[in-house]
This record gives sequence, C-alpha cells and structure tokens, in this order.
Amino acid sequence: MRKKEHIKIALQTKTTKTSLDNYKIDYNSIPLFNIDNVDTSTTICGYKWQYPFFINAITAGGDECNEINKKLEEICNECNIEFFPGSYSPALKNEQDKKAYPKNKSVNLGLDKDPKLILKAIKDTDAKYLQMHTNPLQEMIMPEGDRNFDKWFNNLEEVTKKSTVPIILKETGFGMNEKTLQTAINLKIQAVDISGKDGTNFAQIENTRNENPSPYLEEIGISTADSLEIAKKYREKIDIIASGGIRNPLDVIKCLALGAKAVGVSKIFLEILINDGKEALICEIEKWKTEIKYLMILMHAKNIDELYGKITKYN
Ligand SMILES: Cc1cc2nc3c(=O)[nH]c(=O)nc-3n(C[C@H](O)[C@H](O)[C@H](O)COP(=O)(O)O)c2cc1C
Repeated sequence: MRKKEHIKIALQTKTTKTSLDNYKIDYNSIPLFNIDNVDTSTTICGYKWQYPFFINAITAGGDECNEINKKLEEICNECNIEFFPGSYSPALKNEQDKKAYPKNKSVNLGLDKDPKLILKAIKDTDAKYLQMHTNPLQEMIMPEGDRNFDKWFNNLEEVTKKSTVPIILKETGFGMNEKTLQTAINLKIQAVDISGKDGTNFAQIENTRNENPSPYLEEIGISTADSLEIAKKYREKIDIIASGGIRNPLDVIKCLALGAKAVGVSKIFLEILINDGKEALICEIEKWKTEIKYLMILMHAKNIDELYGKITKYN
C-alpha cells in the first residue's frame, strides 16, 4: 500500500531544473572517430556493464509493484542494462513477495535491518550485489517510520564484515557528504550511490502522506552535482554511482564527467513505463544508448574514463 502511494506521489512531481544544469560539457567542433569506436562499458564492484546507466531501486512487494518489477527486469534484459530492484523489506514478511523478488540481481535493504536478515536475503535472492539504502529523514517524516537509529551504523559495519557479495551504500535522494563517503571507504564498502537531491524527494512524498507536514524539511540534502564534486577526489578508492534527478543522456554524461562510473535512473523511467508501457520504455532506453555515444564523440571520449573532467561549471 505504502509503495503504491510512493509511486503515485512521486509521479505527480516533475523534475525540471537540476544542479546539473549549471554545467556544460566540453563540446568539440571537429569529431575524431566513429560511433563504432565508442566503448560505453564500465566496471562496478568488479562486474563489467555494457552501458553506464541502469534502472535504480524503485519497488517490490504487493501484486502491482511485483508486476512493475517483472516488466522492468524484462526491459533491462532486452536492453542489456542493469536492473536494481527496490526494497526487499516486504519480502521479509510475505512469502509471495519473497518468491516474486527478482533473483540474481541486487537485493535492496535499509540500514535499519538486522544483519542476519540481510545476509539471509542475499542468499535467498542469489544476489550479485547488496544495495544498502539509507533514508533517515524519510523515516522521521513518515508517520509509521523508524524512530531509533542507534543500530544503523553497527548493522552496516557487521554486514560489511560478513557479506558474501559487494555492497553499494545507497542514498535515496538526499545526497552524500564527505563524512559519509569517508565512512564507506573506511568500512571497505565497494561502491556508493550518492543519490542527490535533485529529483524524487522523499521528504516531500512523506509530507504529502503526513496529516501534519513540515515542508521546510524538504530543503535538506545535497544536490547530485555537489555530491559528485565532493566524491570525485575519492574515485580511485571507491566506485561512485550517481543518481537523483537524471532526465536524459546529457545528465548521464555530465555525471560521468564529474567522476561517476555509472548513473541510476528511477522516476523518469518509471513514468514512461506507467504512462506509455513497456515498448515505449525499451525505445527510450535504446535512444539513450545511442545518444550517449553521440555525446562521447562530441567530447572526444572513446571510453568512460576519457569523459572525466571534460565539463565546466558556469554560475
Ligand atoms: C516510487 C519510488 C520508490 C523508491 N523506492 C526505493 C527503494 O525501495 N529503495 C531504494 O533504495 N530507493 C528507492 N527509491 C529511490 C531511488 O532509487 C532514487 O535513489 C531516487 O528516487 C532518486 O532518483 P530519481 O530522481 O531518478 O527518482 C525509490 C524511488 C521512487 C521514485
């Protein structure tokens, strides 16, 4: 029920201007190579991905949401991009949801969860990655949210020691500061998804569900571009994934030029699936794949590494 409400409210807001609009890519008038010479592959947590963008955690649990996940998984298989399912939390309580949760992908759980349940979830879903999401502000605004946070760090620490798969520490649209990044590095976590404050805003979503909302809390967080600016000096130490307000291939390229190795998309792709259907989303993803290559030609970048730094901030 809550997941369905999240989807409905998330799709009511449009992502218009974002922090990435303050940046311009390095545009070259004289191209140097062909589209077939462009290599869009990237490596995350030791796994090679053919394309540097993916469908990021959205949903799981309940018939409608499981159906959405099934379609997203089919779309990603067809387009050869990675798919990260949403929270496994409903599957911890419901056998049907456990069965329906995508297997051999990533499993997504919050820092509030007992490490034993997390380790079991990795096994039960035959997961390749563990996405551990963190969403303290959402929990605080959510009427039924968590109010106890003293175990969150210990849960993360224990899981990092015992996990059998690489871990991605994932924000949920509020961005990451330097201290969080340093904590992830100290814990030897393989990747962070900085998920910045530019697109889906869970403070706003929960305020909409709350009878006594606090709209000022929607201001909190660090934009996608600012989070990447903070993270870029750590790019040799940890894989940086960007998400939050990604609208088009140019946003993907800008994040890669700012140091991300891959870029996650949630709301924009969900919107296309819900409003226009599976084929429309496949067409859109195929278009992104091609246009990312066009942009790389304009930037004289034959591969993802060569994109780094080819971007300028304008005020
Ligand atoms: C409807 C909806 C549900 C989401 N559920 C989850 C979730 O279960 N787990 C998670 O880690 N992130 C979840 N997210 C957050 C996204 O993965 C992403 O971090 C955030 O939405 C920013 O990306 P966007 O602006 O492209 O939507 C959800 C996002 C949306 C829109």
